Amino acid sequence: MNDNYVRIFDTTLRDGEQAPGASLDVAEKLEIARQLARLGVDVIEAGFPIASPGDAEAVRRIATEVGNSREGKRVPIIAALARANPRDIDAAWEAVRYAAKPRIHTFIATSDIHLEHKLKMTRAQVIERVREMVAYAKRYCDDVEFSPEDAGRSDPEFLYEVLAVAIQSGATTLNIPDTVGYTMPDEFGALIANIIKHTPGADRVIISAHCHNDLGLATANTLAAIRAGARQVEVTVNGIGERAGNASLEEVVMALRTRPNVFGVTTGIDTTQIARTSRLVSNYTGIPVQPNKAIVGANAFAHEAGIHQDGMLKHRLTYEIMRPETIGLAQSNLVLGKHSGRHALQARLVELGYRLSEADLDQVFRRFKELADKKKVVTDADLIALISDEFYQPPEIFALEDIQVTCGRPGMPTATVRLRGPDGQSVVTAAIGTGPVDATYKAIDAIVRAPNTLLEYNVHAVTEGIDALGEVTVRLQSHEPEPRILGGHGADTDIIVASAKAYLAALNKLVAGQRDASALYLKQVFANGQGG
Ligand code: KIV
Ligand code: ZN
Repeated sequence: MNDNYVRIFDTTLRDGEQAPGASLDVAEKLEIARQLARLGVDVIEAGFPIASPGDAEAVRRIATEVGNSREGKRVPIIAALARANPRDIDAAWEAVRYAAKPRIHTFIATSDIHLEHKLKMTRAQVIERVREMVAYAKRYCDDVEFSPEDAGRSDPEFLYEVLAVAIQSGATTLNIPDTVGYTMPDEFGALIANIIKHTPGADRVIISAHCHNDLGLATANTLAAIRAGARQVEVTVNGIGERAGNASLEEVVMALRTRPNVFGVTTGIDTTQIARTSRLVSNYTGIPVQPNKAIVGANAFAHEAGIHQDGMLKHRLTYEIMRPETIGLAQSNLVLGKHSGRHALQARLVELGYRLSEADLDQVFRRFKELADKKKVVTDADLIALISDEFYQPPEIFALEDIQVTCGRPGMPTATVRLRGPDGQSVVTAAIGTGPVDATYKAIDAIVRAPNTLLEYNVHAVTEGIDALGEVTVRLQSHEPEPRILGGHGADTDIIVASAKAYLAALNKLVAGQRDASALYLKQVFANGQGG
């Protein structure tokens, strides 16, 4: 094993999915897992199978489909999370066993606060549980990871004891979580160094770090852990996760790559896949990336101040420590516009990492031509937004056919919307709202009739300029049968159209669970003679 190799354990689909409002369906999880494999992560933590049948199904599908195929350079390990009890471990194994390289990740808390108030267990009982449950997991699977939850606030002496028992019982990776994001980088680094020094058998296993961002230190703590000897890090794309999130994959990976003299380690990540992965996760979770987010924020490579622009024109190294190309934001000399043909488009898409079937390429070419008619130059960012709008969408139960809006002052913002429903028939309706988007959403609601509360609506321009493509993301909460948070996204040069598409994408996920009911409703609408 190369001692300078840091394994990237991605937990976007497990800890990341615990982010408030980030709920992904099985198809979305599969697509993200495929992209994580292309990105080159070593381990994909696909979910927590005991949590729900949907989670178990997603882990099983990822284990079967991504855990046996070569999307990237190597087949990733597929991990499933389990508390330290037989039911959880059985469920984890049942879901993950189909992978070529399965891993069971089991955990129990070790801090006195958790033992006293949550587990109501003594230290001796925790040690016994670890001994039994790591051995139980080991009977199923060679690759067992153990985490002492809240390690950052645990008594280090107790921690060494627990970890030694986990190693004796067969754990191959020991993951050290700063569950509540409490530690400082020097403290966390020292904790890792001391674990390596004082835990009998630590030299035979991989030590891993898992940091939360409550004090904004998750990346710093993870990097401190690597300097202290950790050779696996648990991270999420865009840093999403419980509360303030987890250490961000792109920040950790790019710090290691940009400062090789400081760290002297490598990873298996293909950094040119970072931008694409970030976008996919943001689109599917409905959680936008803040513009000033390191590495993947819209402004991460933008130089606004005159003095900076002057420096950049003289020499890029004056203000640029990383090249946008390194994370997959290709700077192409090839300008695509309305005279560009299918071949030029295909070549550009391949450079951006998209290999489309002939039929899919036809579809994108049609959208590209429409866009090029409106916009002089079609940029890489436009193409990525188009691909995302066309392909990273849920099945269209309700599809937007036409939309017309009147608004302005004085007047009443009114939207007329025509949707094609599940039976292939069209329904048209109109509504008045406080503004054009509100009117549009009310008209859509009148047709789809899936009660919900809109939690978040975001619009941003994909590129600069008045003719830019607008991209909208929404998050809504369903009311029935139980509250669920769903995200949607859409892109168009007309932001009302983009808004309608984004809302419909989220509603399509909602009604996918109630398909029969919506089909029934449509029949009623047509019986009432409102069909278009
Ligand atoms: O933060 C945490 O402690 C966890 C464990 C389950 C690894 O996510
Ligand atoms: Zn966590």
